[in-house]
Amino acid sequence: MNPADLFEQVIHFPDPKAQTDYDRLVGLDDYKDRLVKETLLLVDPALLSDWSRKHHKGQLAALDYFAARPSLFVLAGDVGTGKTALARSFGNEVAKRAKVQVHLYALSLNARGNGAVGEMTRLISGAFRQVRDAVAKSRDAHGRSGRGIILLIDEADALAQSREAAQMHHEDRAGVNALIRGVDETAAERLPIAIVMCTNRLDAIDPAVRRRAAAVFEFHRPNRQQRIAVLRAGLQGTAVADRDIDALADATGETAEQSCGFTYSDLTQRLIPTIVLDAFPERPVTGARAVELVRAIRPTPPFRGNGHAS
Ligand SMILES: Nc1ncnc2c1ncn2[C@@H]1O[C@H](COP(=O)(O)OP(=O)(O)O)[C@@H](O)[C@H]1O
Ligand SMILES: [Mg+2]
Repeated sequence: MNPADLFEQVIHFPDPKAQTDYDRLVGLDDYKDRLVKETLLLVDPALLSDWSRKHHKGQLAALDYFAARPSLFVLAGDVGTGKTALARSFGNEVAKRAKVQVHLYALSLNARGNGAVGEMTRLISGAFRQVRDAVAKSRDAHGRSGRGIILLIDEADALAQSREAAQMHHEDRAGVNALIRGVDETAAERLPIAIVMCTNRLDAIDPAVRRRAAAVFEFHRPNRQQRIAVLRAGLQGTAVADRDIDALADATGETAEQSCGFTYSDLTQRLIPTIVLDAFPERPVTGARAVELVRAIRPTPPFRGNGHAS
């Protein structure tokens, strides 16, 4: 199968656009740091031994725990909080630091896997086969891989939906089993492949998959300070005063009228464009008008565990 048939997108890092996206993500510094370090060590495991020798004068016993550890990361949480944006951009930072190419293979289950029951298994097995081939091709004469690979399984909720829709028991688990097999084989062979799953419903991820995760990161809506950071960045260059940014931050939080605050994407993809288009083409953006406009926008309802927004 062609990568083009299987993957929605293959992104090659370094990539300047990814850098901008990554830098703009607010409130995710810990997750950024962790994902970058983990993937960096997959690409160049010797870095960890070097560190150990330098700071502990030898090989720490703890390093053994890194061998054959599944490099699976689950990004879970509310919609519009940066799961996809982080998963699609952190590879750039890895490429920069490791000074190698990193390739992101993005598979979106929601877009692709809602057909026949066997479809999910075919997609997942095919995806693992492709990324393993990509690693094999990049091996040098010493067997070292000159690149890192990120396999992104976005909208992984679809895996559970297929399980719910499937009638027969063996088909029921086939997609999940393909995923587990892929994760285990990648780990056993210590391939430089980071597997990242994103989901709005952590409970949609099979317990056997979750158990294998090296880390589960939970994503949340921005707090007031984080909203201010996004608004400042988004309205940079306009004459909107700090006082108006504060008012916008208040209006986009939990209020008497709304039981939850705006998501990050409510701010970047709805509020800020609304403010800009209201001014365009005749007027400049002003704080007073922005504060008026925000009142007409409601936050996206939280994603509920049962799969229905309510
Ligand atoms: N933490 C964040 N900081 C800044 N902007 C964000 C953040 N999270 C999301 N956004 C904005 O919202 C858009 C959609 O986010 P996305 O990653 O698709 O959300 P999710 O995958 O969690 O539903 C991003 O492209 C970005 O513009
Ligand atoms: Mg997403």
